[in-house]
Order: sequence, then C-alpha cells, then structure tokens
Amino acid sequence: MIDLRSDTVTMPTGEMLEAITNAKLGDDVFQEDPTVNKLEEQAANMLGKEAGLLVPSGTMGNLVSILTHCQRGTEILLGDKSHTFYYEAGGISSFGGIHSRQLKNHPDGTIDINDIKSAIRVDNVHFPKTSAITLENTHNLCNGSPLLPEYVRDVATITRNNDMQLHIDGARIFNAAVSLDIDVRDLVKDANSVTFCLSKGLSAPIGSVICGSEKFIYYARRNRKALGGGMRQAGIIASAGIVSLDTMIDQIRKDHTNTQHLVEGISSIEGLSLDRDNIKSNILYFDIEEGEKRRDKLAKQTANKNVYPFDIILDNIYFLETSPNRFRLVTHHGITGDDIEKTLIALKDMVK
Ligand SMILES: Cc1ncc(COP(=O)(O)O)c(C=O)c1O
Repeated sequence: MIDLRSDTVTMPTGEMLEAITNAKLGDDVFQEDPTVNKLEEQAANMLGKEAGLLVPSGTMGNLVSILTHCQRGTEILLGDKSHTFYYEAGGISSFGGIHSRQLKNHPDGTIDINDIKSAIRVDNVHFPKTSAITLENTHNLCNGSPLLPEYVRDVATITRNNDMQLHIDGARIFNAAVSLDIDVRDLVKDANSVTFCLSKGLSAPIGSVICGSEKFIYYARRNRKALGGGMRQAGIIASAGIVSLDTMIDQIRKDHTNTQHLVEGISSIEGLSLDRDNIKSNILYFDIEEGEKRRDKLAKQTANKNVYPFDIILDNIYFLETSPNRFRLVTHHGITGDDIEKTLIALKDMVK
C-alpha cells in the first residue's frame, strides 16, 4: 500500500523505537521527566524561543496557545482555510469562548495585509476586542505553501501596534524552513508563540511542542493541565520526538523532492491540473478537469462515505479527495521514489 493521504500516517523509525525503550522517565506534571525536559529545551533552542511545552497533538497546541493569548469574549483573526478554523472542532469557541473572524486565505496561504488591518476592531461597546491572529506555516489547505519571513514580520508589526498576539500554527514549520532554505528561527522570531508537530513529516508517533516566552509557557502549562493534556511519564513520547529533531529534517528535504517529481508528472498528464507555483513542500493538490466524467470513473474506487475528505483507493494507492474533483497527495518518510513512479502511472491510467 502506498499511503499518500497524510504525513500523519508515518510510522516511528527503528531509532525512535529504541529511544522509547531506553527513555529515562519521571512525572512530567511535576516537571520531573528528564526526557520531556530535554525535548522542550531542544525545541525551544531550535526555534529561538525561551521555553517549550510538549502537548499530545497539534490541535491541543493551537488550543492551549490561543486560550493562553485570548480572554473569553475577545476575537481572533484567522484564515478562512486555516486548520484551526476548519478542522479543530471549534475548540477555541467551545472551550475558550473566543470569537473567530475568518479572513480570506490566498492560494499561497497569506491573508491580505490590508484585510488584517481593516479587521481590527476599534474600541467600541458593540465590538469584541481583537486579541490575536494565527498564521499557518506551511499552509495545509493552501497547497502546503510556506509563508515568507517578511510576510510574518509585516503581520507581527501590525499585532505589536495593536496590542495583539501572533500565534503560528507551525504544524509543518520545518517543511517551511526547508522549502525556503532558511533557519526555522527566522520564520518564528516575530511570533509570540508557535506550535509544531513531531508526528507529521518528522515521523514521531505522537506529540507537538508549543514554544514561546517563559511567561507564556508558564500560563500555557496550566491550560494544558485544564484540558487534560498533562501526561505523566511522557518521556516515552518525548524520546521519539528528540530523534525526530535530531534525524528527520533531512527526510523532509527528500519528501519535497518527491513532491516535485509528482508535480512534474501530474503537470504532464492531460486532464489533471495543479497550482504549480504554490506547491513547494510535501503537500500537493490536483484537480480533475472536465469533472464529472472522469470523477465517475474514480468514484467506483471511493470508500463509501458521505463527508469530505473521502479516502480514494486507486490500485494500491491511497489518497484523499478533499472537495469535489480536488485531490490531495502528501509525501513523507514512508514514500519512496519508486512509489512516486507507481502513483504517476496509476494516475495516468485513471484519466485515460
Ligand atoms: C496545519 C495543521 N495544524 C494543526 C494540525 C493538527 O494536528 P493534530 O492532528 O496533531 O491535532 C494539523 C493536522 O493535520 C495541520 O495540518
């Protein structure tokens, strides 16, 4: 099976399994797990922040960060295609009482700077206070596109001038850094907080890390506890995360090369189209042109569900249909160059 549905399907490497077996453990709610402490320190150093906090998932990382930045009844700005708005079960609203305001995401994952400026509320009894904005880097639904450091800096200038906080959903921030060939610190230095995932392209089985100032992490730790995210001998998880940070960044480079091979191949298949300019990391969306006829052919192989995304099975290749006639392929540690060739052959056959 060639599983291109997501980079979350990656299995831990042998080195990770060994690290898990040998991990030194303690009670992390007491902050006594040496392996968690090591991971948090390493992550904070890599991202140029004062402190880190291990959480079970990217969703909890975003939720804890936003709960820490925003008071109940205030408003957060986020992209209309952002993961936090789309796929996190409305947690910031249900658990935080935080009002979200969605601004249009462009295909490169940016939100227009003028849209941001004009969405900030004036101080008036009718309005919630605008307390924060989140950016997503790389942007999952927007072609896995990386945001440039200059763009992040421009947004941070706005947040600083308006008593707002900037959170980055950096689930795939290392993909962004690799894609732009820059130090990951340059992508997050202007943000008040960032969450990144160990369990996506970095291949760890579980976990995300929030990074920010000491003070921010102090309060975030309490919110993590309140949400039930205080894990005890969490060094089991952190040990694999350390291996991720030590060994898996190079893998991301290979994943991006594999994605570019897919881009080349799919561009040459009549009947399929994609946004070549914005595909720069490990996520690729393509569309089937002349919709219905070709889609019918594929639908026969579609798992029988009635909500997007659908699992698509084409021969032994798995990928997602994320909206009608739009499909997503994600490269990762479990995908080889040979798998890419097989996928291209299958796609070519599909639209014949
Ligand atoms: C951009 C982005 N943010 C956050 C998440 C949430 O991560 P998790 O699945 O670990 O909760 C995802 C998951 O795919 C994501 O793509």
